[in-house]
Amino acid sequence: MTFDQLMDRARSLVAEGTRALLGITGPPGAGKTTLAEHLIQTLAPAPPPLIPEQWIAHVPMDGFHLANKELARLGRCDRKGAPDTFDPAGYAALLRRLHEDIDDIVYAPGFERTLEQPIAGTIPVPRSARLIITEGNYLLFHDHGWDRVRPQLNEVWYVDLDTEERVRRLIARHVRFGKEPTAAAAWASGTDECNAVLINSTRSHADLIVPANLMRSLGAPPD
Ligand SMILES: Nc1ncnc2c1ncn2[C@@H]1O[C@H](COP(=O)(O)OP(=O)(O)O)[C@@H](O)[C@H]1O
Ligand SMILES: [Mg+2]
Repeated sequence: MTFDQLMDRARSLVAEGTRALLGITGPPGAGKTTLAEHLIQTLAPAPPPLIPEQWIAHVPMDGFHLANKELARLGRCDRKGAPDTFDPAGYAALLRRLHEDIDDIVYAPGFERTLEQPIAGTIPVPRSARLIITEGNYLLFHDHGWDRVRPQLNEVWYVDLDTEERVRRLIARHVRFGKEPTAAAAWASGTDECNAVLINSTRSHADLIVPANLMRSLGAPPD
């Protein structure tokens, strides 16, 4: 499988000009955001025939993290990133609204990595957007209300990366965004690893597996 084949497959989802939603899932640090950004960068200037500009948008699931204050109320600060530390119903409602394709603009929340909190109204999705790429941990998960998500998506791809490289990248990302190296390693082998096991259990439900060798060949995206 090549990156060009992934591009063609993503582009073909909007062949009729109807809005399509493509999901990308996989464990923490596997490269979901990286793949989405590469696809958007290369596809943005190359819309399908008869589709106008601004045809592609990126709406991460990460914007549906609960705020720290709510995690504290729930006693779940130390498990941030687990299935019950998001608002899956809110995410599914946003995806449904995008699918309905009736609003001139839909604002999606973003996740601010330094604050480690979501911020509403961060991502404007214009009506012209025909392909929405959404990515995150639990697109194929069933418990805690996540089963509402998959029906809103045309396809879901699962990103593979060998565990050693994935954990190395994950720790580097934690450090880049302010964790001490020891705390970063502990978080990666604790909370992140528990989540990775859950996410891995959804792998067989994916429409496509993006192989590790392809993921390794993609360069790191700009932060
Ligand atoms: N080719 C690469 N080499 C080194 N680091 C990379 C590469 N591709 C991505 N990364 C980094 O790995 C980390 C994890 O990737 P990311 O796309 O954020 O994963 P996910 O969204 O699945 O958690 C990020 O900090 C990213 O910049
Ligand atoms: Mg990500």
